[in-house]
Amino acid sequence: MPPSVSQLGAAVCQVHCILLLCHGRMQPYEILIEDAYNSNFDIDIRGIPDIGHLAHKNCAAVLDFLRARYMEDLIYTTADPLLIATNPFRDLQNTGPQWIQKYHASTSPEPPKEPHVFQIARTALERLHSFDSSQTIIVSGESGAGKTEATKQLMAFLAYVKNERKGNIRIQEAVMAANPILEAFGNAKTTRNNNSSRFGRFMQLQVGPEGGILYGFIRNFLLEKVRVTQLGVDERSYHVFYQLLSGASTSLKTTLHLLRPDEYVYLKGSGCYLCPNTDDAADFRVVGQTFEKMNFRPDEVNSIWSILSGILLLGNVEFQKKETEGVPDAADLTPEKKALLSQCCELLFIDSKIVEKEFLFNMRVIGNQEIQSPVSVSKAQVNRDSLAKALYEKLFDWIVLRLNQRIQPPRWFQIVIGLLDIFGFEVFQHNSLEQLLINITNEKLQKAFIQIVFSRVSA
Ligand SMILES: Nc1ncnc2c1ncn2[C@@H]1O[C@H](COP(=O)(O)OP(=O)(O)OP(=O)(O)O)[C@@H](O)[C@H]1O
Ligand SMILES: [Mg+2]
Repeated sequence: MPPSVSQLGAAVCQVHCILLLCHGRMQPYEILIEDAYNSNFDIDIRGIPDIGHLAHKNCAAVLDFLRARYMEDLIYTTADPLLIATNPFRDLQNTGPQWIQKYHASTSPEPPKEPHVFQIARTALERLHSFDSSQTIIVSGESGAGKTEATKQLMAFLAYVKNERKGNIRIQEAVMAANPILEAFGNAKTTRNNNSSRFGRFMQLQVGPEGGILYGFIRNFLLEKVRVTQLGVDERSYHVFYQLLSGASTSLKTTLHLLRPDEYVYLKGSGCYLCPNTDDAADFRVVGQTFEKMNFRPDEVNSIWSILSGILLLGNVEFQKKETEGVPDAADLTPEKKALLSQCCELLFIDSKIVEKEFLFNMRVIGNQEIQSPVSVSKAQVNRDSLAKALYEKLFDWIVLRLNQRIQPPRWFQIVIGLLDIFGFEVFQHNSLEQLLINITNEKLQKAFIQIVFSRVSA
């Protein structure tokens, strides 16, 4: 059996290689005047790639050292056993196939000493096979730091094999191809990151001794469901909604009753429909092709689009007040909204009569009698939004399950490389339970980092 999400804490304690990221856009940092002396002023920033070798390691000195390296495009620095990566926000041409070869054991017995994300991957791979023990690489950092990009680079390294494999590389291609689907359904534009992961992802990869991904398994957790029904200013909902609305053919638009993004209550709150440097229609085609590659049947894909349309339309099922049974603001639906609800339910493949009853009434069973009492408009809205969020979450879980069916091994893994790409710390104007859970998870990881660094220092 795979470990449960709650067991991840244990996995964290067993890590051997760790990656830590900082945000490249440095914020002003205030320090006391007595800390401002740059005690590392005469060091060769290229000659010292590890913070541990600095003569002075106070906070100001370390930050200045990282800044100085960043200005020279040296975005990786170690704090052994951690790797700190600062986001360059531009292509430094340092992660392509040639760079993989520079660091890969099969092509480079003596890899460069300069820290790199590929150095971490190489160490994990070597330890995986020489100790016959699973390795986990934790990618942590605030939102927009570059965790997901780093995870993709790590996967590219693990997928590399020097000699064309004779065996079947379809699984490896499928593992890599899962990314566009996961990002379409689990990522969104936020004010910090145009492609922010709104879920945690733990990937388990079986990697051959010479490299190459043989099997994989994706474990998703803590999807930010509230984004489906509520958006902050300048933020978007999940990419896939905009991809469907802009990329669907005219006939699909008609069949699914698709509207413009600004006609959906769930999307128009933020006033933001476009994502910079993103072509939603082109991405829709990529996601469609990826579904095909991953063996999703055409009827399954059509059902996915239909459910997405139904979820969006649910937000437009608005209630009106009526006084009944002593409730002054009891929720009710006009005939027009009832028709809309039944259209939604058709798209969602559920019974509209049952849904209407669940939206509008509290049901209690007394003895063998079912008693229904009307609910207020605000309670009916909560019922409706809860359904939209739960449906989206179930859809996401089902997609991950189907992806896993394509990439998982016939019997459970013996040893794996784990890659943890979680959402970064975040503080919004309105923070929900989801932000609390996200930040607690980050705090736990931070604690693990500190313990690992200090146990190394004191050892
Ligand atoms: N190594 C890199 N080289 C160039 N650009 C990068 C690199 N890493 C990240 N970026 C840029 O920064 C953006 C944000 O990175 P990414 O999505 O990986 O952040 P994240 O840490 O996963 O954030 P979140 O917690 O919001 O998911 C990317 O879309 C890309 O434009
Ligand atoms: Mg991310």
